[in-house]
Amino acid sequence: MNLLGSLFKSSIGKKILMALTGLVLFGFVTGHLVGNLQIFLPPAKINAYAHMLESLGAGLWLIRGFLLLCLVIHVWLAIQLTLENRAARPQAYGAEHVIRATLASRVMARTGIVVLAFVPFHLAHYTLRVGSPGWSEHTFRLTDGTLVRDVHTMMVQGFSNWLVSGFYVIAVGVLAYHLSHGIVSAVQTLGLKNEKWAGQVERFAAAYCWLYFLLNAAIPLAVLGGFVKLAA
Ligand code: HEM
Repeated sequence: MNLLGSLFKSSIGKKILMALTGLVLFGFVTGHLVGNLQIFLPPAKINAYAHMLESLGAGLWLIRGFLLLCLVIHVWLAIQLTLENRAARPQAYGAEHVIRATLASRVMARTGIVVLAFVPFHLAHYTLRVGSPGWSEHTFRLTDGTLVRDVHTMMVQGFSNWLVSGFYVIAVGVLAYHLSHGIVSAVQTLGLKNEKWAGQVERFAAAYCWLYFLLNAAIPLAVLGGFVKLAA
């Protein structure tokens, strides 16, 4: 049997694949946040950035395909491991184990489901622009004269809705909570967390997740608060 096949079969292999796909998705959400923070710069910046991504053409589709594959593997293995754990629980876990597990670790499936519900909503909102076809027609002229899609206006108009912004804040909060255990768990599964580093890994995960949540939430809140406005 090849290595990939055996990884998908054994419990530890599934955990390693979950850790690796989780780290890829973690890299994506971090990069996505850094890109989105350009909303706090003059509109030309985020519009040029979105245009650069679109100009990747086939490369962008390769990246999208790879991310989707990682998401599918991550979710599929999460379901399998949850079912396996449930089936083994009466023998394998005593009360003490349950008490010692953190709340974030115990609600991973629930937080994962919320994030999974957010992704199609988000893609329909900003990538497919369902219900707001006008957003595809907004254009912006960069300083070099190139006419590009106006992502800045789309984001300001999108986040001007309290309900939509509220859902984003909740979703990124839930994702940050999911990551707070996910990071520690992935590092442990990959054998990178030893006694010496354990404290540092946990502190890094907690600090990262708070920062991730606050910076993400700042985007819709800044629009609602009138700090980020439509270009004059
Ligand atoms: C406040 C938080 C977020 C903001 C402001 C935001 C903003 C955006 C915007 C504006 C786009 C469309 C870009 C364009 O039209 O060119 C987009 C696409 C996307 N976002 Fe987000 N996003 C946020 C959080 C997230 C999270 C938490 C995830 C994943 C869990 C995510 C996943 C994606 C994906 C997969 C795409 C599609 C990328 C593509 O078209 O290839 N976003 N986001």
